[in-house]
Amino acid sequence: MSERVDRTFLNPGLVSLIGAGPGHPDLLTIRAHRALQKADVVLYDALLGEGFHALFPKGALAIPAGKRCGGLGATQAEIHELLLEHAWAGRRVARLKGGDPLIFGRGGEEAAFLEAAGIPFELIPGVSALQGAASAAGIPLTHRGVSREIRILEGHHLLEAGTDWPELARSKATLAVYMGTRSLKAVARKLLEHGASSDLPIALVECASWPGQRTTISTLRLAAEGHLCPLTDGPGLVLIGAAVSARVHPLQPSSFVTLSHEPSSAFPRSEGEAGAAGGGRERRAG
Ligand SMILES: C[S@@+](CC[C@H](N)C(=O)[O-])C[C@H]1O[C@@H](n2cnc3c(N)ncnc32)[C@H](O)[C@@H]1O
Repeated sequence: MSERVDRTFLNPGLVSLIGAGPGHPDLLTIRAHRALQKADVVLYDALLGEGFHALFPKGALAIPAGKRCGGLGATQAEIHELLLEHAWAGRRVARLKGGDPLIFGRGGEEAAFLEAAGIPFELIPGVSALQGAASAAGIPLTHRGVSREIRILEGHHLLEAGTDWPELARSKATLAVYMGTRSLKAVARKLLEHGASSDLPIALVECASWPGQRTTISTLRLAAEGHLCPLTDGPGLVLIGAAVSARVHPLQPSSFVTLSHEPSSAFPRSEGEAGAAGGGRERRAG
């Protein structure tokens, strides 16, 4: 806990709320990298890969923060307290957050807190898991003639009252569900119950941009029956919609794609995918 002091005569430092991307340090933007290099203190999220440490300036105080870390900064209130303490000591603080800080990252809360406390801050965007997962899996999020809309959803609360399931089930949008691996089966069931096609393709992209990234492609029916399951302990993003079938096969070191079940041929298919039709499992190691 920081001491309560009279801050009237203190010059606060600067807090940079930085989006670090989905996990691999090479997805950090140049602006993010520059801000990081100037930091006296780096307060970083648990989901960031080890490779980030090499980018921290020598001599900077590195503090892991977030629920997964246990120790310091395990709660949001503690993170606020740490930001306050170091900024009021006149330090430059890099608050490094997974993906983009303003997408399910509590970046808005941290920014509002700093604003209320009179601490200067800047917001530096990052590649969100949405884009990281789409590129890792070769899945276009919009695709001409197939999907013109992306719906960003959050799996934890999707099943609570208030979700307009008939509207979601009718939608031609690509549905992107963050924090949705646990609720995947129930979400697929709900969509089916409300009229979505049982052949609608669904992808689970795990550990996007990490060395062990994996993509599993299936259909809504098979997902509702419980056949689409996480293969790793890492984070996963669920993509649902016809655009999933427009998947291509980018060359990516360490990428590992598993096709558990083929989506229906009723959906557009890329040339590279045509040869993989007919069910069964396909593994590609890049
Ligand atoms: C608390 S949210 C943070 C989202 C983050 N602010 C962003 O913009 O990506 C964490 C969720 O993001 C998704 N996620 C984060 N990193 C991921 C990755 N490398 N691969 C797949 N999904 C990821 C998962 O759905 C995970 O449960």
